[in-house]
Amino acid sequence: MSDATPPLAAVIGWPIGHSKSPRVHQFWLRKYGLCGYYIPIGLRPENFEAGIRALPRLGFAGANITLPYKEAVLHLASSVSDRAALIGAANTISFRPDGSFHADNTDGYGFIENLRQGAPDWDPRAGPALVLGAGGASRAVVSALLKAGVPELRIANRTRQRAQNIAEAYGARVTVVDWNAISQAVAGARTIVNTTSLGMTGQPPLNISLQHAHAEALVTDIVYQPLITPLLDQARARGLRIVDGLGMLLHQAVPGFHHWFGVRPEVDEELRRAVLAP
Ligand code: ATR
Repeated sequence: MSDATPPLAAVIGWPIGHSKSPRVHQFWLRKYGLCGYYIPIGLRPENFEAGIRALPRLGFAGANITLPYKEAVLHLASSVSDRAALIGAANTISFRPDGSFHADNTDGYGFIENLRQGAPDWDPRAGPALVLGAGGASRAVVSALLKAGVPELRIANRTRQRAQNIAEAYGARVTVVDWNAISQAVAGARTIVNTTSLGMTGQPPLNISLQHAHAEALVTDIVYQPLITPLLDQARARGLRIVDGLGMLLHQAVPGFHHWFGVRPEVDEELRRAVLAP
């Protein structure tokens, strides 16, 4: 028998019980017949650094990093991708043989790939984007939309200062819109994105009217519980194109899986079903 440990990977956060990532990676490991394991590891804040440092010695190739450590992990990384540095957070780390690690952020990649798969004729350059929310997820979405070529990006957030901070960090194409004026800011937007937690099961819906939406607008939500949020429901009723948020979670997992287990996995309907199963 070989002494080599099969590749190991993890998702690290606190708490961690709710994470869907193990389902995603285990589905792919089975699908591609690979020998490897992907497990959830809950690390309390006082154990975070020691826990991360121990992983390569235990045979881990890498990990996904989730709340509340996406920012903190950057301080432990020996190298950080440009996109993770720009966003100020990482969700994917890969260990080197010496135990140091590279930190990357694939959330923006996952966001864009989800739109490209769910709406193949979506063209980010067709017109302005409207982004609602200015938290961690918003930073990844904003940087990905700018990189994809949106000519103008409007951002609104309940706490205006956070939207202003993003506008300052991302430059001239980004303008701040008042939270009370989001229904007006819809006019002319070709990509409309909710990155707030509004619309999630147990949360109030996002209060927005799509009455002035462009007929060709694409509406998407990063909330995927429920899959069809009130925002997507309203958009669909108006005949607009919609893409739900589950695919962002699935696509952001692709680069890590590829790196750790050596196969570039596919995001398909079967994976969606496996992740949504009760
Ligand atoms: P994440 O990193 O997942 O984006 P976050 O940093 O907590 O999470 O951000 C949550 C987003 O949802 C923020 O834009 C937040 O607005 P504030 O910056 O004003 O807190 C937004 N949000 C949450 N609850 C909200 C509510 N009831 N009304 C409006 N916006 C809300």
